[in-house]
Amino acid sequence: MISQRQYASRRRDLMAMMQSNSIAVIAAAPERIRSKDTYYPYKQSTNLSYLSGFPEPQSVMLLIPGRQQGEVVFFCRDKDPLRETWDGYRQGPEGAVKNFGADDAFPINDIDDILPGLLEGRDRVYYSIGKDAEFDRHLMEWVNGARDIHGSDLTSPGEFVDLDHLVSEMRLIKSAAEIKLMRKAAEISARAHRRAMQTSRPGLYEYQLQAEMEHEFMLSGATGPAYTSIVGGGKNGCVLHYIENSDKLRSGDLVLIDAGCEYQNYAADITRTFPVNGRFSRQQAAIYDIVLASQAAAMEMIAPGLEYHLANEAIVRVITQGLVDLKILKGDVDELIARDAHRDFYMHNSGHWLGMDVHDVGDYKIDNHWRIYEPGMMLTVEPGIYIDPHNMNVDEQWRGIAVRIEDDLLVTANGYENLSAEVPSDRQEIEQLMAS
Ligand code: GLY
Ligand code: MN
Ligand code: MN
Repeated sequence: MISQRQYASRRRDLMAMMQSNSIAVIAAAPERIRSKDTYYPYKQSTNLSYLSGFPEPQSVMLLIPGRQQGEVVFFCRDKDPLRETWDGYRQGPEGAVKNFGADDAFPINDIDDILPGLLEGRDRVYYSIGKDAEFDRHLMEWVNGARDIHGSDLTSPGEFVDLDHLVSEMRLIKSAAEIKLMRKAAEISARAHRRAMQTSRPGLYEYQLQAEMEHEFMLSGATGPAYTSIVGGGKNGCVLHYIENSDKLRSGDLVLIDAGCEYQNYAADITRTFPVNGRFSRQQAAIYDIVLASQAAAMEMIAPGLEYHLANEAIVRVITQGLVDLKILKGDVDELIARDAHRDFYMHNSGHWLGMDVHDVGDYKIDNHWRIYEPGMMLTVEPGIYIDPHNMNVDEQWRGIAVRIEDDLLVTANGYENLSAEVPSDRQEIEQLMAS
């Protein structure tokens, strides 16, 4: 759990980075209708979660450094016994003060009357610019409202600054409490992958392995999947974000599972590829071992002080060499690398930051230079080889084979720690687990 003390300290850190005489406006995510009058499960905006842990929709938090009556102001839904009977508990403004560190809190219905007065006299507004058109419009109305208070624009903010940039930099380096939650997310997800490996057999449907995974997630206290689970048997694995999960699994095929849970707002993101029937064919084994070797080479490039792109370069080299060895690519390895020949078979990158968002926030480059790893960063390393079933330039024996291997790494003082190592990726270990 993230303590209220930690949320308060994050808000203080953010306010310390804001320029003088400014205000930050952080809105809850909108609720989204799935069908007629039922909604998608609610997902709080990750920035509001990060800065407050406040779980409810229809809320807005303001950070107003230096405000005499208190720097943290909330707007949220009022208590409403009838609505709470139908939809569940509400904190109400009292709860925002008592449980979420607000100095002041008001009903969200009063925001149009109150917020312009709080903007008055501030020079600049920090907010997530352009992420939610409706919120953008509201904010302009409030700013214009502040203008109207004295009939002059001298007292209203004239400058808008992107809040996300500041918060993203904070979120990129995980605290001890965050690492603990992410460790747990990875641990649950690894257990689910083991379960899927042990359950797999020809004749099952992809969605049945998905169910095994997600069953394990929820049994273990995760909210559910952090993103739509991908279970692709055979050539379906060639579709990078295949989510139909509707086909029957066939003996002799591989199955690629890319699934991770969300645990207390933090994501895991793990991929394993294994034979449906428990035994790799010669061709599958050959492709698999290249991907695994490329991942090992990439992981050697992950340590404080090393640049982000080196992992991908390591992957490209190992994959290109491997495909040349198998005569799937033909030519000189350096020349093939120079012209990105791997792109037909490995068309994504080494991975991404991982955190509250599965593709987490944080820049990969700063002033056009690749970012350098620092302890506390969390990232995936996920090379893959996908041989299009219709690729007539490749000998038939290879077509339709897809392999991705993805792990979740924490950058430590000396290198990295693999948080998802509990699920085997070694070929023999997978076969052993599946046979047990
Ligand atoms: N699950 C999407 C990804 O691996 O990035
Ligand atoms: Mn993934
Ligand atoms: Mn990923």
